[in-house]
Amino acid sequence: MDWIRNKMNIEIKDMSSSDFREMSELWSESFPEMQLSASEFQKQFEEFGILPSECPVAHTPSGVAGFAIATDRRIPFIGSDPLPGCLACVVVGSKHRRKGIGSLLVKAAERQLMGKGVKKIRIGYPTYLRGTILSLIGVDIKWLGAVGFLQSLGYAPRRALDSMILPLENWQMPPEMVRKLESDSKDGITFAALNPAEENNIMSFLKHEFPGAWHDQFTDLLNANALNAKEVLIVKDQGKIAGFAGPFHIAPNGDTCGVGLGLAARLRGRGLGMSLVYSITDFVKKSGGRKLTLFGAVDKINYYGKAGFVPASTWLVFEKICPEAKQKTNG
Ligand SMILES: CC(C)(COP(=O)(O)OP(=O)(O)OC[C@H]1O[C@@H](n2cnc3c(N)ncnc32)[C@H](O)[C@@H]1OP(=O)(O)O)[C@@H](O)C(=O)NCCC(=O)NCCS
Repeated sequence: MDWIRNKMNIEIKDMSSSDFREMSELWSESFPEMQLSASEFQKQFEEFGILPSECPVAHTPSGVAGFAIATDRRIPFIGSDPLPGCLACVVVGSKHRRKGIGSLLVKAAERQLMGKGVKKIRIGYPTYLRGTILSLIGVDIKWLGAVGFLQSLGYAPRRALDSMILPLENWQMPPEMVRKLESDSKDGITFAALNPAEENNIMSFLKHEFPGAWHDQFTDLLNANALNAKEVLIVKDQGKIAGFAGPFHIAPNGDTCGVGLGLAARLRGRGLGMSLVYSITDFVKKSGGRKLTLFGAVDKINYYGKAGFVPASTWLVFEKICPEAKQKTNG
């Protein structure tokens, strides 16, 4: 991408590796709950394969003032829906705001995405991985500045995604649930991490019981060699797979989120759902998680609420149809 210099002496250039330290500082300042060290930040760029051209950086004479990440690249840790162009984040350092830098970055990001033929751009990236550079699933409804900013650039909210959380630091399995799990076990129902040798069994279970998005997502993870058995909790009935939860990925800050959870149809309505959600919590805490986050869970508040989850941020998914795409649609 050609760099842009405007009259305020701001240059927008493709990211270079010498920018990582300042970019990670701006990231951590803007998203204090998702702080990332420079090395972790750089590692994630490399692991996700984000190209320098996908990351316009704003330079001022005093250093890096902001950056954006714009990609249409699918990582394995997303659902199976089609992926539009994603403006995964746009960040401007607090002392550089309201000077037009955010707008310059978004325009540079849009040009880059449209150059690849993208017809629609969404703000945020739909991964279940928490605490990464791609983890903003949208815009928190409380970030009024960001909402005003995006509206000024022609983006409109299209969906709202609720979330529920359970802090794990002081969490303990309630004694009555310990007894319930013992009694489940006597009935032949057990909860334990996936045995890597049983990957084929979990895939046939999902194909049979949850043939849509969850089966597809596990298939994508498996194909990308990114299905970590230790992140999947398996329910067995008399030794045979009869339910699953996960994969649960623990972010560097301890935040944890998973793909899904479900029981075989024949096991539903027997109180095993509560055994499953408590087993998940125990499983994640023992694996080092410090917080569990669920998206789109409030409509099941009667289930998750009983296990201690409370409503948290609501995320707005903003979108914009690209001008070129609009012209084509109109004729
Ligand atoms: C959102 C953010 C990127 C905006 O960057 P910025 O450089 O300040 O934005 P601009 O100066 O280009 O603003 C352009 C227009 O957006 C609107 N806008 C920007 N910030 C706003 C605010 N806090 N409140 C209301 N409107 C705002 C205004 O219309 C503004 O034009 P004006 O200054 O002439 O009134 C910046 O505030 C930021 O980094 N916030 C933290 C990270 C974040 O929330 N990112 C969004 C989610 S990825």
